[in-house]
Amino acid sequence: MKIITAKNVEEASVKAFNLVQEGLENGTIQTLGLATGSTPLKFYAEMREAKPNVENVTTVNLDEYIGLAADDPQSYHYYMENKLFNSLNFKASHLPNGMAADLDAECERYEQILKEHPVDLQILGLGTNGHIGFNEPGTSFDTKTHVVELTKETIEANKRFFEKVEDVPTHAISMGIASIMAAKSIVLLAFGEAKAEAVQQMVEGPVTEECPASVLQKHPNVTIILDEAAAGKLK
Ligand code: F6R
Repeated sequence: MKIITAKNVEEASVKAFNLVQEGLENGTIQTLGLATGSTPLKFYAEMREAKPNVENVTTVNLDEYIGLAADDPQSYHYYMENKLFNSLNFKASHLPNGMAADLDAECERYEQILKEHPVDLQILGLGTNGHIGFNEPGTSFDTKTHVVELTKETIEANKRFFEKVEDVPTHAISMGIASIMAAKSIVLLAFGEAKAEAVQQMVEGPVTEECPASVLQKHPNVTIILDEAAAGKLK
């Protein structure tokens, strides 16, 4: 694991952007794995501003809520359209379909997409409980794309994006831990004091399904980019 501690979110996001831009320019990133949430917002702002040439690049997103249509402002489809896809002309962009009638078939379809477009660089955020994607503590490291029930902690953490906590979906489709680990390289971003404990467990704790992100210790090419607050509990 390569750990980079930046002064603040701005500097960290620029560092992440530089890594991605280099891969886009030298052609090593043909498939880019993306995340939602508040962590990558500044990174997406950098992408929108720099407008790298991505016409030969396919994107795949980690996850989507079940029961939210693509045009629902809380859906991850909507978020991605708004934050990135409206501004950059990717060759193709894929997210799980949270409205699929047959969710198991949808998970299989998504795994097929990942097989056809192996991820060259995956952007990840980190849950306060150590989740990556929506793989909550206790998720097997062998999981492929699957339906997950969100924990109370994650619903609480995500309610800020909704009017009331009851509106937060209870389930999502998420790439599994094994699907994420298949990426050739991974850049995980974590910002703020609320992430410090999860960062410490991910980097210095045991590799255990109780902290899903700890699996990244076993990946050969991971860069963790933190701000000072998120790095605050590292030895
Ligand atoms: C989002 C995702 C989640 C978030 C995590 C952190 O696609 O997969 O794992 O990265 O919940 O969320 P924020 O960035 O809002 O703190």
